[in-house]
Amino acid sequence: MAKQIAAANWKMNLTAQEGEQLINEILNSGVSLQPEQKVILAVPFPYLSMAIAKVSGQGGNIEIAAQNVSNKKQGAYTGEVSAIMLDSIGIKNCIVGHSERREMYGDTDAVIAEKVNLLLDHTITPIFCCGEKLEIRESGNENSFVTDQLVNGLFHLSADALQKVVIAYEPVWAIGTGKTASSLQAQEMHAVLRNAIAGKYGNDVAANITILYGGSVKADNAEELFSQADVDGGLVGGASLVAGDFIKIIKALKA
Ligand code: PGA
Repeated sequence: MAKQIAAANWKMNLTAQEGEQLINEILNSGVSLQPEQKVILAVPFPYLSMAIAKVSGQGGNIEIAAQNVSNKKQGAYTGEVSAIMLDSIGIKNCIVGHSERREMYGDTDAVIAEKVNLLLDHTITPIFCCGEKLEIRESGNENSFVTDQLVNGLFHLSADALQKVVIAYEPVWAIGTGKTASSLQAQEMHAVLRNAIAGKYGNDVAANITILYGGSVKADNAEELFSQADVDGGLVGGASLVAGDFIKIIKALKA
């Protein structure tokens, strides 16, 4: 079975002090994780080292992620953060291809593929986001659209490399809108993605890859979403900023 993950995406929220308090509350909640479960906190760049220090010594199934990385290796790119830099402070995960970056910062499929490659070169797990806008779903083309994102962003990888990637299906119409995909809609798309992976890489690779759902995951809908056969957990924005809610979401992971 694929690893079950509850991932928090703080986006551009919280001060350092608030972030530290939130991590403390999660660590002190006593929530226990099974070996096949993991929690990942994607925090803003300035808090990465603080967050790593906080979770180190917690048994390894709480990890920290960056929310973005440069598609350039190093050099004169003012304001950018490289995979080398993330690796050098012990980062093991990084979100790529989030719809907010695709929409507002021009991350194309090609740029995202470059980021994926640089992360894997530095043994950082890409948390690869894909998902369709409302008009694409309304036109009935969501399966081919999201499959294309998957193919363009990831299918240049070897089977070995692909198995180091976590996928997050996040329908854009469900992000921050309070409108969650139904568990059936989530399951259908996750099965489409897993089948596409099976078609190119075989059933074993497809079965082992973690596919998260994201888009208005909340404390009261997480269990229903995560109970779906092909949903291996969630990438959670708004609800991950409230310790009590995120802890409930962690507890909703499949055992
Ligand atoms: P949301 O965000 O949970 O606030 O909808 C999810 C995401 O963008 O990763």
